[in-house]
Amino acid sequence: MMGMRTVHVNLGARSYDIRIGVDVLGDIGPVVAGLGPGRRALVVADAAVADSHAPMVASSLHAAGIDTHLALVPSGETSKSLGVASRLYDACLDAGLERGCWIAAVGGGVVGDLAGFVAATYLRGVPWVQVPTTLLAQLDASVGGKVAVDHPRGKNLIGAFHQPRLVWCDVQTLDSLPNPELAAGLAEAVKHGLLADARYYAFIRRSRAGLLARESAAMIRLVAGSCRIKSRIVAQDEREEGGARMALNLGHTLAHALEAVAGYGTMRHGEAVAVGMVAAGRLALRRGLWSHRWQAGLEEVLTSLHLPVRIPGLALSELAAAMRLDKKAVDGRVRWVLPVRPGQVTVAGDVAPQEVAEVLVALGAQSS
Ligand SMILES: NC(=O)c1ccc[n+]([C@@H]2O[C@H](COP(=O)([O-])OP(=O)(O)OC[C@H]3O[C@@H](n4cnc5c(N)ncnc54)[C@H](O)[C@@H]3O)[C@@H](O)[C@H]2O)c1
Repeated sequence: MMGMRTVHVNLGARSYDIRIGVDVLGDIGPVVAGLGPGRRALVVADAAVADSHAPMVASSLHAAGIDTHLALVPSGETSKSLGVASRLYDACLDAGLERGCWIAAVGGGVVGDLAGFVAATYLRGVPWVQVPTTLLAQLDASVGGKVAVDHPRGKNLIGAFHQPRLVWCDVQTLDSLPNPELAAGLAEAVKHGLLADARYYAFIRRSRAGLLARESAAMIRLVAGSCRIKSRIVAQDEREEGGARMALNLGHTLAHALEAVAGYGTMRHGEAVAVGMVAAGRLALRRGLWSHRWQAGLEEVLTSLHLPVRIPGLALSELAAAMRLDKKAVDGRVRWVLPVRPGQVTVAGDVAPQEVAEVLVALGAQSS
């Protein structure tokens, strides 16, 4: 555990630590055992990590005196369903999990959201720990305690806030991650820098080679940097009531529409966020809030991280309709988070549909 970085998420009685290191999966057991009296655990793991990371976590918990059971879920967003959650409740009961026992999530954001949802609801809530194994889950989904399953009519419609007791990030798990999944996580890191921290943004821009090569030191700094930014924002606005969390929606107004119109699963969320940030930058540019040099820098860093910066041939009318349905819209008006300089954003509620249309067409949306 030498050299692990710690980010403390400060939420009063629900505070927890995010620990980040390399080759540390086998060290988690005693740390969990030290957090509470629960002597039983259900490890919920993505099938993609069934042979690699999940057994390491399970045996470390077991060696620390925790009676550990394993439940695998199929990879992919379709596992974030009430049906799979119900099978996990069965597994909790079969394992004899009582109040105070642990659920551990080993996998990406899908398993984190799903297992966290089960932890929030089983016996009206049991403690849980998260062992994220995708970059997106390590630097974004692990912070903030939002847990959910999808409804056939929309993503994340059934959920809760349930903070984990510990997040354990091993950047070595990222070695097996497919390149597009790495890029999707990097998009969220760029977003964190752009919206809140110019120094972090500059670090990403100058470290892109090391990040693409998944060098441990660069990855640890990246995950810690993003977690620190997101946890600061979450600490101000835990349940998304005060407005601070709104900044995290930079790029999301368009991203959600792109994902919906392209068809869920066609475009990764991080890829859609990359295009969404480019659109937000172009809108800010038109309004004189942002400079051509900053916009060029943003598009260049995203491109060099193998992320898209143009709309892939989708109809403007469909994108506009999808944006009006966005759950963040207030009184039918879409609110845009716009960059004003690297590290700072503003929220604009008065962006006219025509302004958006011009930007989207310039980025490749089809107008007829
Ligand atoms: N709770 C939050 O605050 C929050 C924030 C952002 C996203 N999310 C949710 O997270 C989900 C997306 O997360 P994701 O991008 O991690 O997707 P994911 O969990 O589907 O993982 C992406 C792919 O990587 C595979 N995988 C996982 N770990 C691996 C590893 N170490 N090596 C090789 N392959 C591995 C998975 O099987 C999957 O195919 C969405 O459901 C989204 O709604 C939640």
